[in-house]
Amino acid sequence: MDRILLTHGRIATMRGGRYDLIEDGALYAEGGRIRWIGPTGSSELSDRAEVERIDAKGALVTPLLVDCHTHLVYAGNRAREYEMRLEGASYEQIAKMGGGIASTMRATRDASDWELSAQTGKRLDALVAEGVGTVEIKSGYGLDVENELRCLRIARGLERGRAVHVRTTLLGAHALPPEFKGRADDYVRVVCEEMIPAVAREKLADAVDAFCEGIAFTPEQVRRVFEAARDNGLPVKLHADQLSDLHGAALAAEFGALSADHLEYTNGEGIAAMAKAGTVAVMLPGAFHFLRETRLPPVEALRKQGVRMAVATDSNPGTSPTTSLTLMMHLACSLFGLTPEEALAGATSHGAAALGLADRGELDVGKRAEFAVWDAEEPAELAYGIGPKRPILTRYPQ
Ligand code: NIG
Ligand code: FE
Repeated sequence: MDRILLTHGRIATMRGGRYDLIEDGALYAEGGRIRWIGPTGSSELSDRAEVERIDAKGALVTPLLVDCHTHLVYAGNRAREYEMRLEGASYEQIAKMGGGIASTMRATRDASDWELSAQTGKRLDALVAEGVGTVEIKSGYGLDVENELRCLRIARGLERGRAVHVRTTLLGAHALPPEFKGRADDYVRVVCEEMIPAVAREKLADAVDAFCEGIAFTPEQVRRVFEAARDNGLPVKLHADQLSDLHGAALAAEFGALSADHLEYTNGEGIAAMAKAGTVAVMLPGAFHFLRETRLPPVEALRKQGVRMAVATDSNPGTSPTTSLTLMMHLACSLFGLTPEEALAGATSHGAAALGLADRGELDVGKRAEFAVWDAEEPAELAYGIGPKRPILTRYPQ
């Protein structure tokens, strides 16, 4: 049925990144869009015929969640590296020994399309079961033209038959593949001159990302990647200042990036540049926790400067093997000091902004009629519990 009338919900609209609660709220949707939202008792709600009626019975209603940063397409796992790190090896040391991203690259290249789809689909289903309606999926474990494009195609293909939007991001500049050892600039040339144009031609990605770090690519190399993205009409995002301060946030802002992600080591200048450019700060507490990082992202400064903060899973085998966005909301509060309201905004309104999507992440007239009803009354309950939450029901217009 195309028309939906939800009544008696405690609606956290998340307009402007706030709970903006409507007590005993109602919403009416038609053609996949919200046409009306307000109090259940309103006279404007009478004579709505032939509608699917949902009585939320006082339960919490939120927009469907948005996971704006994942690396879902990969094969294998890195449990052995986890053990090594617990024995004292660092993430950087393991990467330099040929483990890390390169080891997942090998497993991913070796996997068939079918295997990759099946493994990625399982992870995507776990997110959807938690009330996530939009998922960004990066490539980055193929690391050659053929395999990067293959991973993006697989990511796109997973949308079929599922109640989820998949947004794809090319992360060709994730790590140096072994065949380019000692020739990083040559690999960057492949990313700029072959991968990005091919992806733009085939419309396989919605954005371009890079990993700016000592163990990955220099700011100069990232700049070249960003210029190529711009030349091909694609917006950019950046893994910035995760392990050290390379002024990644400022670089991202200079290119009007949709988001700069991680940011543990970002300095004040970078934050000011992000504020000016409207670049969203994506908080990834799963990676912080898993790497046993101690340097906290500059949440108070981001808040003061009015930089919008998103929260995402960063789901990947090396630094954040999780498929629970609500667990990340919990960690964002407990580890980073976000309020539960900020965490929910991070997984709805601001998560959507980190993907450049203005039509979701908030419940309001004209927005997509995508919402979840939760076995909860207080919106803070979504960040409060440790572990995945399951909505009672979700609506997702096809
Ligand atoms: O977001 N920082 C780079 N990329 C991932 C880690 C990828 C991996 O180790 O496989 C991240 O943390
Ligand atoms: Fe990441």
